[in-house]
Amino acid sequence: MQKKVSRIAVLTSGGDSPGMNAAVRAVVRTGLYNGLEVYGVMRGYQGLIEDDLFKMESRSVANIIQRGGTILKTARCKEFYTPEGRKKGYDILAKRGIDGLVVIGGDGSFKGALALSKEYNIPCVGLAGTIDKDIVGTDFTIGFDTAVNTAIEAIDKIRDTADAHDRLFIVEVMGRDAGYIALHSGIATGAESILIPERKTDIEEVINSLVEKERRKKLVNIIVVAEGDEFGGANEVAKAVRARMPQIDARVCILGHIQRGGSPSAIDRLIASRMGYHAVESLLEGRHNVFVGIMNNRMNYVPLENIGKKKGTISEEWMKIVKILAS
Ligand code: F6P
Repeated sequence: MQKKVSRIAVLTSGGDSPGMNAAVRAVVRTGLYNGLEVYGVMRGYQGLIEDDLFKMESRSVANIIQRGGTILKTARCKEFYTPEGRKKGYDILAKRGIDGLVVIGGDGSFKGALALSKEYNIPCVGLAGTIDKDIVGTDFTIGFDTAVNTAIEAIDKIRDTADAHDRLFIVEVMGRDAGYIALHSGIATGAESILIPERKTDIEEVINSLVEKERRKKLVNIIVVAEGDEFGGANEVAKAVRARMPQIDARVCILGHIQRGGSPSAIDRLIASRMGYHAVESLLEGRHNVFVGIMNNRMNYVPLENIGKKKGTISEEWMKIVKILAS
């Protein structure tokens, strides 16, 4: 028989993402509703091994659903990769009588949770919080929709000035291992080319298409490139284009961390609230060591065991749409 969970902790870990606060709020309030004691861990696993925890009440999460960042702060903790680091973390949880942990973060954070749960039999549940959407098993990750909307707003503005000057802009968006932000924001802004890590970049094809467009006097073009594209990001693409087309007026814009901040979109607030609620339900129902995703608008519980650095699948249809609509 599984022991009933009575005192849980919640932490945010890895790169922050808009909607993490909404998820923390949902975990805290669902926990309290079910009679649990809830602790907040500051600065992810780093705060855990340093015993930086505090008891949370309903008011602790008031007025945060609309805020970007994370009130619990976040960190990437090298020490937690080691068995010694995890032992420290477990000792703190045991000392405080915490018998369930909710981890909001990306695949690296989930690996930490899996190792902890295996070594010390602590029930853990993950919530997918990353702007990159590079986690297999969920249609959404908390923060992705907001990041895409931020990128769209920026690229729309770039297109205004590109249009005024008849320029080519190469816009770099985030995505170290995944091209979803590039793909979604690129399609939504009518980008002429979208370069992503999941597809081999044929730079000759990109340049030939620009040459052909120049011949047709189509001089305003936007290339959206994911930072993790294997060709090397926006500066590398610009260099290659200028080498072949020195006459072209090309500019680079790297959007960077603005994509990580800001008030979460409606979608991110909703999925964070649903996932947070179901994370606590999972702990109560004994569905442990899973992360809570959403597939086809239904909750999807993926064993943390199955998390790996897999590249997501990009449908051929989407790539075809990019080509056809950008002509
Ligand atoms: O949150 C994921 C991510 O946005 C990646 O796309 C990016 O490479 C990385 O974070 C950068 O994060 P940081 O500057 O915090 O290391």
